[in-house]
Amino acid sequence: SMIIPSVQEMAKESMTKIPPRYERPDQDPSINATEASPLLSPIPVIDLERLTIEDSMDSELDSLHSACREVSSALLEEFKKQVENFFKLSYEDKKKLWQKPNNHEGFGQLFVVSEEQKLDWSDMFYVTTLPIYLRMNDLFDKLIPNLRETLETYSTEVKKLAREILGHMAKGLKMAAEEMKELFSDGVQSIRMNYYPPCPEPEKTIGFSPHSDADALTILFQLSDTEGLEIRKEGRWIPVKPLPNAFVVNVGDITEIISNGVYRSVEHRAKVNSAKERLSVATFYSSNLDSVLGPAPSLLGKHNPAIFRSVPTEKYFKEFFSRKLDGKSYLECLRIADG
Ligand code: SIN
Ligand code: FE2
Repeated sequence: SMIIPSVQEMAKESMTKIPPRYERPDQDPSINATEASPLLSPIPVIDLERLTIEDSMDSELDSLHSACREVSSALLEEFKKQVENFFKLSYEDKKKLWQKPNNHEGFGQLFVVSEEQKLDWSDMFYVTTLPIYLRMNDLFDKLIPNLRETLETYSTEVKKLAREILGHMAKGLKMAAEEMKELFSDGVQSIRMNYYPPCPEPEKTIGFSPHSDADALTILFQLSDTEGLEIRKEGRWIPVKPLPNAFVVNVGDITEIISNGVYRSVEHRAKVNSAKERLSVATFYSSNLDSVLGPAPSLLGKHNPAIFRSVPTEKYFKEFFSRKLDGKSYLECLRIADG
């Protein structure tokens, strides 16, 4: 089976050129934010603190507010420290946590399906965190207790936040609240920690290939102010500047399916640079493993036919992890061709 090399180890060697397996001539250039701003609306920033002060009579916004407050800056600081230390482990120690054949959890890369396939300029650590019965216990047991504990708290708090946001989305969509609640009563959560080493030829490669997230909602924590994340808007790649004390919230494919295309998942990628490493942690939240994924019945009607096929969530994920990552192509497979 395939052993995915560690880019972090590779980047420690002094090199002036990247190995061919990381060359990505297919990547479109970025445009910078100032160039983009006259043409495109800015990325919305929601200040949850202000929101609740102005609407303090709204108890629902209050619960969103408290969900955000629980992800305290002390927790984020501690988690950041633990994740940074985790990527500083020796290669020998990391190898004990490397992906095993036929299992994608651990250190390595996801979506690699052939020996010829190009690789991303990054290492990642991927782990399923919720529900607890889905956890790979042997992997969890090998984490140092400090990281494990902090991961546990972070996972719980970020889940609350994701559920709050999904609840508000259901309202915005005018979807039956129970439908959303039921779909996510025992939602699947996984966490992906990303490490992007500095790169001698950053323009020739990509840190994370273009994709939309397959989940319902992603909460992305950028560990430093190093830029790298870009979203695709009107066919162009726009950088998303990291803001202090802010999460990036991505709408994923499951939300696009449930909302029957009203909320669109966002295509994004990560660039690398020659000067600085970059770290991020993405927390994915998805529907219950035993649920059936499809447009919410309460949103459908004679004039609103389903535009996506229904599929069991478990099958949806099996298929997703057996493919190459390629923009929004997986979601497109589920689209019902009209006519
Ligand atoms: C991701 O797409 O999950 C990671 C993007 C990033 O590192 O900002
Ligand atoms: Fe992503």
